[in-house]
Amino acid sequence: MDGSRVLSSIVHSQVPIHHPYGGVVPELASREHLGKINTVVGQALNKADITRKDLDGIAVTIGPGLIGSLLVGLYFAKAFSYVLKIPYAGINHLEGHILSIFLEERPPSFPFVVLTVSGGHTTLYHVEGIGRYTPLGQTLDDAAGEAFDKVAKLLGLGYPGGVVIENLARSGDESRIRFPRAYLGPDSLNFSFSGLKTAVALHVRKWQESGQKEGSMADIAASFQEAVIDVLAEKVMAAAEKTKVGSVVVAGGVACNQALRDRVRNLASQSGMSFYYTRPAFCTDNGAMIALAGYHRISRGERADLSLDVKSRYPIEDIPTL
Ligand code: KG4
Ligand code: ZN
Repeated sequence: MDGSRVLSSIVHSQVPIHHPYGGVVPELASREHLGKINTVVGQALNKADITRKDLDGIAVTIGPGLIGSLLVGLYFAKAFSYVLKIPYAGINHLEGHILSIFLEERPPSFPFVVLTVSGGHTTLYHVEGIGRYTPLGQTLDDAAGEAFDKVAKLLGLGYPGGVVIENLARSGDESRIRFPRAYLGPDSLNFSFSGLKTAVALHVRKWQESGQKEGSMADIAASFQEAVIDVLAEKVMAAAEKTKVGSVVVAGGVACNQALRDRVRNLASQSGMSFYYTRPAFCTDNGAMIALAGYHRISRGERADLSLDVKSRYPIEDIPTL
């Protein structure tokens, strides 16, 4: 990582471990982190064709997230930093997603609006520079990715749900069922997906009780996805217009969704704005986006000391300004 070039990015997916439970089990997650962190870091160095002596700094996620998993990463980073006598920085996971667009060759220039939309977050930010993020709106209940995961579970499609729903939706009719869209008032940039989730649950129950007569599972998936995309796309455009920026970015796991990308691309081009997104590997959680944030923080002089702790809640307003 030199601020724009990724030398290696290794992700150890825990999906097979949590899959049987239909969601992340915190104890299993931290145990798996502990068991794999050495191997993953070793693989990252090997693939980059460097040794630990070539490292100039270390970036580690300190929140928001599951305490057990965060602690494994933080203590590993502290030990590495202490032994190698190199600085380390504690990174907010959301700053990683916001900046992930700079992992691509042609990133936007500041200012821009970014929609970070994942399993844990659905937030709009006005980004004026590195470390300068103003939240414009966020979900009041479920995150959009969480809604995808819950609907997939309802339909018996397993975890995580985003990709399965998207694939199923391709063969469905998105206008078949009119699920509710929560706009929360004409000027609101907040989101709410819990009503939609309940509406889908009620619909699925009726559909099953009727012997799955009216429409198909693909229609339900497509109609649900359409309801989510309508709201996400409209609000990201409204945020861009409100802040008078020329560029919109989508980031986070749900930004892998092709239908969402197509919609935002169309709306942006109609409004004369530029649209940016990363390749799927940089949308879902990855170490490269954290390294990128760390690169900028450490090269601007940020130094964490050994007393740094993890934060299960870590609002973006609390990150150190640069
Ligand atoms: O950013 P991420 O990897 O982890 C979090 O920080 O949450 O996002 C994971 C979320 C999951 O909820 C997953 O269902 C969703 O992103 N997701 C998708 C797609 N791919 C992943 N949602 C919709 N369409 C997709 N293609
Ligand atoms: Zn994430």
